[in-house]
Amino acid sequence: MSKAPLLEVKKLRTHFYSENGRVTAVDGIEFEVHEGEILGIVGESGCGKSVTSQSVLRLYDEKHEVEYEGEINFKGMNLLELSLSKMQNIRGNEISMIFQDPLSSLNPVYTIGYQIAESIILHQEVSKKEANEKAVEVLRLTGIPAPEKRVNEYPHQLSGGMRQRVMIAMTLACQPKLLIADEPTTALDVTIQAQILDLIVEMQTKFKMGVMFITHDLGVVAEICTRVVVMYLGQIIEEANVESLFENPLHPYTKGLMRSVPQIDGDRSQELYVIEGTVPSLDNVPKGCRFSTRCQYADEKCYEQEPELRSLKDTQKVRCWYAEKIIKMGDDTYVKSS
Ligand SMILES: Nc1ncnc2c1ncn2[C@@H]1O[C@H](COP(=O)(O)OP(=O)(O)OP(=O)(O)O)[C@@H](O)[C@H]1O
Ligand SMILES: [Mg+2]
Repeated sequence: MSKAPLLEVKKLRTHFYSENGRVTAVDGIEFEVHEGEILGIVGESGCGKSVTSQSVLRLYDEKHEVEYEGEINFKGMNLLELSLSKMQNIRGNEISMIFQDPLSSLNPVYTIGYQIAESIILHQEVSKKEANEKAVEVLRLTGIPAPEKRVNEYPHQLSGGMRQRVMIAMTLACQPKLLIADEPTTALDVTIQAQILDLIVEMQTKFKMGVMFITHDLGVVAEICTRVVVMYLGQIIEEANVESLFENPLHPYTKGLMRSVPQIDGDRSQELYVIEGTVPSLDNVPKGCRFSTRCQYADEKCYEQEPELRSLKDTQKVRCWYAEKIIKMGDDTYVKSS
């Protein structure tokens, strides 16, 4: 028997209100994150990855007109039913988040040592002196050279990669059960990106955290994730183990994403495949299958009827009427059989 999941998201819908009416940015998504696993969430820009992660922490509640439906179960509680003050206790303590741009989450007027120590004091019963020592210690764990000097510096004095390490250090100080990483390496150059990924995996293994890792980089997914959900226009269109997803992507959208990733050993002269068209806007969601407007295999049924997310194999789910019928040919293209 597998243990109960750390996080269980059920039929989550997130609606925003503005003068133009209501948009549903996340529309009925479901997934689980287990202890010690890294779940990848992928999809093109605007598909709802950040809204999903920020909904888990209810980060919109204070600044936006937002309404949630469904359940976000964590440690026997539905987070959507908690008061904001209870939610505040969960943030940082039990669920931590790191963002693409750490500058926006660091306070420019305090030294990083002060900020790490503050987050330690907030979460653990220690003296100021102990917290300061601990700040140096967690910073050292992230591989920052001379952490005892760095603690006295301000965020703007550090490089992007260093700032991301500081964010990870703050996360470690609280030892959360769940880490949500929203494109934490996108703004960094490739070498630093690899170091930060290694660090996240190392910490995840050490502290048996569950991780929700949001990215649009399938290379990163292949490297660190165990399972993946693929999102399109606010919904999950495929869910699979990493191996299955890369060996046998089932949804035409996932197939397109795979073909648009540069292959390290591939023919560099060959142009990368691009999925035609753009993601429709939320106030113009296609009837039927949401991907139908861009899908080369779509027919009348796809334009009219919305497919459910269904299990096609033990470990793989897909939201497509014709997933079984779209077959790979020898030249790596796909055709739809009748
Ligand atoms: N506060 C808000 N009010 C209204 N709409 C919003 C709000 N926040 C996000 N959206 C909309 O929700 C959709 C999903 O946005 P989201 O930021 O989750 O995309 P994403 O998948 O994270 O994209 P990216 O890869 O660019 O970060 C977008 O259409 C966006 O415009
Ligand atoms: Mg985002």
